[in-house]
Amino acid sequence: MDESVQPSDRPLDRMAHRPVMTSEVLEALSICQGSWYVDATLGQGGHTEAMLSQGAQVVAFDMDPLAIMKARENLSPRFGDRLRLVSGNHRNMGQVLMDMGIHPRGVLLDSGWSMPQSESDSSGLSFESTGPLDMRMDPSVEKTALSVLEESSIEELASILSNYGDEPLAMGIARALAEARSRGRLPGTPKELAAFVSGVYYRKGYRRSRRHPATRTFMALRIVVNGEIDSLILGLAGVRPLLESGGKLVVLSFHSREDREIKHLFRNWVREGLGSLPFSKPRTADKEELRRNPRARSAKMRVFIEN
Ligand SMILES: C[S@@+](CC[C@H](N)C(=O)[O-])C[C@H]1O[C@@H](n2cnc3c(N)ncnc32)[C@H](O)[C@@H]1O
Repeated sequence: MDESVQPSDRPLDRMAHRPVMTSEVLEALSICQGSWYVDATLGQGGHTEAMLSQGAQVVAFDMDPLAIMKARENLSPRFGDRLRLVSGNHRNMGQVLMDMGIHPRGVLLDSGWSMPQSESDSSGLSFESTGPLDMRMDPSVEKTALSVLEESSIEELASILSNYGDEPLAMGIARALAEARSRGRLPGTPKELAAFVSGVYYRKGYRRSRRHPATRTFMALRIVVNGEIDSLILGLAGVRPLLESGGKLVVLSFHSREDREIKHLFRNWVREGLGSLPFSKPRTADKEELRRNPRARSAKMRVFIEN
């Protein structure tokens, strides 16, 4: 686990992150008091706190040192040694749990980034940011959003935008970026990239939409820069064999590619006779939550139960 990463100066408290589908997650995990659970994506700690409040013991991972620091300040004093915090990538969580000698009864993975991360200037994810076009969650990783734009061919860019962002204008945006690159005029900040993608949309005749036209482009670059899908799959594959019998894996994903990967992973495990699925179609948030929490709109929850 990488302990060398320093907390950034991001204002984590500026915008609260509402945990998504908390009651569905708790129902799926069916917490047994005193048993160990894993939160693979601590974030602002909403799900972890809910699990701890039901009597769970929790090992929580986050690769953002600021999330760990906040939980150490806010949750550790209340829950003491029922909460163990691990600063690092959850792709290694199987090994970390093995070293701790912990066989969890349930694992939650709530993928992506939290609201304060997305809104902060330093993450390079805010459409208004005039900082570097970075998007790395772990600053020790070499690839940045800008290096992806600089080094990928048109076809590679289009496939990134289409595969990881479900972007309908993937080829148009890729061509425009390659053309800008050839003139030495690639967007250099998130704000410039957001305006650039909006320009492509407007030239194609798109006018209004609920979402910013650059939403999908930003999501695709973020997923690729941080190797998010690899981490997710490696993390789940590493932790599954450690689950107690009847233990649950609960995954919240926010993007069709992620959901597809989880679906295939879980179905393969069922075919191999390793466990079962309590429901085959993903669960989604109820109307009341959709009204309160816009992030819940695209949430899909899948559950795997270990034999
Ligand atoms: C959507 S937020 C989780 C929100 C959380 N469930 C809550 O209630 O506040 C996702 C968190 O996972 C972290 N994260 C994303 N990918 C990760 C990875 N591969 N390893 C560790 N943490 C990761 C992010 O830093 C972020 O804090």
